[in-house]
Amino acid sequence: MSAPLLPPIGMLAELTHRCPLQCPYCSNPLELLKANRELDTLTWLDLFSQAADLGVLQVHLSGGEPTLRRDLEQLIAGLSARGVYTNLITAGVNIAEGRIEAFAEAGLDHLQLSFQGARQETTDRIGNRKGSHQRKLETARRARAAGLPLTINAPIHRHNIEEVPEFIDLALSLGAERLEIANVQYAGWALANRNALMPERAAVDRQADIVAAAQEQLAGIINIDFVTPDYFATYPKPCMGGWARDAFMVAPDGTVLPCHAAQTIPSLRFERFGERTLAEIWSDSPAFNAFRGTEWMQEPCRSCERREVDWGGCRCQAMAIAGNAAATDPACIKSPIHKHMAILTDAALAEAAPEGAESFIFRRIGAATRPDNRA
Ligand code: SF4
Ligand code: FES
Repeated sequence: MSAPLLPPIGMLAELTHRCPLQCPYCSNPLELLKANRELDTLTWLDLFSQAADLGVLQVHLSGGEPTLRRDLEQLIAGLSARGVYTNLITAGVNIAEGRIEAFAEAGLDHLQLSFQGARQETTDRIGNRKGSHQRKLETARRARAAGLPLTINAPIHRHNIEEVPEFIDLALSLGAERLEIANVQYAGWALANRNALMPERAAVDRQADIVAAAQEQLAGIINIDFVTPDYFATYPKPCMGGWARDAFMVAPDGTVLPCHAAQTIPSLRFERFGERTLAEIWSDSPAFNAFRGTEWMQEPCRSCERREVDWGGCRCQAMAIAGNAAATDPACIKSPIHKHMAILTDAALAEAAPEGAESFIFRRIGAATRPDNRA
């Protein structure tokens, strides 16, 4: 018998794919949507209201760069009026004077600011925009002055993994209450750039030790999370907390998805808000039900004692590496192709260009299919 369907508690709203930065590990799809495909203000407000009715307690406002939406204050106010906790995930460059204060006034609860590096030259190089580091420092200062709690996001990979101690100092100096150091997940643009981004195992182990020591030393001062890369894991993570289990995301055009990379699974068709209500999509969408719970699982997951811990890992990683979205996530040691992860890691490192000569596919419209866009 299948378990009763619970309401979702979290939602990630990708308000736009537009962004002033071009990070080569962006989790957005390779096919980015232009501004004319974005939902309008009233539709987002209707969607948020339906999400609150459905039981959603927290909404992460993301993108692309969500502050490029001129109606962001209105969207925050709409969520706040329904008692929904709002978290703004921003790259923090080019936010006009007075807007952070306006977000706070509209009811924003928390701001999450990403840094591509702890050093100016790294941030500016990885995001492919000069001056961005300085602007982020200014955004952090303004957020704290507006009374907003702050999390610093530090996505790490081969080109900034040695900056972990500096990321910790940076987060402390900015008055952040949380620092999330996350090895990039190889989906979306990061998968296209895997060879250029993959760190060495020794570097990951070294930084994990540094973080563990800092967590102990700074307990009560700052929370530090460390997300290890799946390619070096023994067991997978419960991606999105389990497929369509307690959270979902919405793309800029209103397509409702269980996770970032779901559209890479070609057998699934995802519905758009407006074609059906959010409640109908959450409970009845064949794509949401395809990998919900445990009944879809094959062996070894089907009889595994961890099946309700990691929910079989990541469906999109199974698709990308095993070629079958219903397979056990290859990050799991019990997967028959688990050793393939180490082979892919070694191949990525063998093909890596020397530092400074790397060839990223920077995130921009059309770039994933145009090799001349490597920089
Ligand atoms: Fe998780 Fe499946 Fe591996 Fe068990 S076999 S640990 S359920 S991925
Ligand atoms: Fe889709 Fe993990 S990214 S399930």
